[in-house]
Amino acid sequence: MEPKETLAMVQGQAQIWQQMFGFVDSMALKCAVELRIADIIHSHGGPITLFQIASGIDSSSPDIPYLARIMRSLVRKNIFTEYHPLDGGETLYELTQTSRWLLHDAEQSLVPMVLMENHLWQLAPWHCLGQCVKEGGIAFKKAHGCEMWDFASKNPEFNKIFNDAMACTAKIVMGVILAEYKDGFNCVGSLVDVGGGTGGMIAEIVKAHPHIKGINFDLLHVVATAPVRQGVSHVGGDMFEAIPNADAIFMKWVLHDWSDEHCIKILKNCRKAIQQKSGKVIIVDIVLEKDSTDLFDETRVAFDLLMMAHTTGGKERTELEWKKLLEEAGFGRYKIIKIPTIPSIIEAYPE
Ligand SMILES: C[S@@+](CC[C@H](N)C(=O)[O-])C[C@H]1O[C@@H](n2cnc3c(N)ncnc32)[C@H](O)[C@@H]1O
Repeated sequence: MEPKETLAMVQGQAQIWQQMFGFVDSMALKCAVELRIADIIHSHGGPITLFQIASGIDSSSPDIPYLARIMRSLVRKNIFTEYHPLDGGETLYELTQTSRWLLHDAEQSLVPMVLMENHLWQLAPWHCLGQCVKEGGIAFKKAHGCEMWDFASKNPEFNKIFNDAMACTAKIVMGVILAEYKDGFNCVGSLVDVGGGTGGMIAEIVKAHPHIKGINFDLLHVVATAPVRQGVSHVGGDMFEAIPNADAIFMKWVLHDWSDEHCIKILKNCRKAIQQKSGKVIIVDIVLEKDSTDLFDETRVAFDLLMMAHTTGGKERTELEWKKLLEEAGFGRYKIIKIPTIPSIIEAYPE
């Protein structure tokens, strides 16, 4: 073998080892969240030793060598940094801009999302992807015997884990939407958030645009757990049956959960619900771009497989796929507004 070819083989081997152990990073991250390591460091207000981290862990006898190995892995991935004091003192650990997203009580936190995506219930369907390719079907159903929304309706613990995860990402994405899409809500008198979960997003929109009458629409078992929110009424129902009337519809991370056939049904119900011609559907969803090198692009592609693992025929779509879908549902015009986060805003106008 030529030396160049030998090098390429070794590089290929290294890549397979790395990818094979991709789950190790997820599990180390989950461990850091469960042990509240970021919170412990944060509460000290500065860099701390391994023993100080250990003494903050909820355990009477934490295993220090285990903790050291977890920290080594997390430092290597820049989740935390470590300092070696010049005086030869003990190694100190500090937060980075990355671990700030792992603080439980921060205004913006990814903790519930890390816990939900790495929960055994959510990991089980990932083992069924090969089976799905061979014979079709729904990975979540193969793993759990029913689809995810049914599983949530029968399992209050999963329902809470899932809704909390949605609420935490919604807060992050809503912050970007409210900053970047200020004029988008100007001419909207009433707005229904379809699949709005427990109503956090519509409450944020109404807070920023108090002229809007907000309606949070989701399945009955979801709105049943929603808190009272000022300026928002909660409505339980099924978007495949009917959607409450409003000037405009907001729909974030809903259409990617469903197949094209399902999406057309939902979008047709959106059309019925928008009574004025000047109304619009504000879709917040990923737009896949082939050769993009954007900061969130790897995550957008990961989301597509996530939809395969957890949803009923859901997928991420390219602009062409969105155009086709919207046209088929009677939305002849649309506009894509890119924002600095994972999804984009797609405004769709009824004809
Ligand atoms: C991926 S979550 C997105 C939640 C929220 N929009 C967000 O971005 O955080 C999808 C939402 O659709 C809701 N949903 C699923 N099937 C539904 C149906 N048939 N009618 C109304 N809502 C539904 C789920 O309960 C869930 O809250």
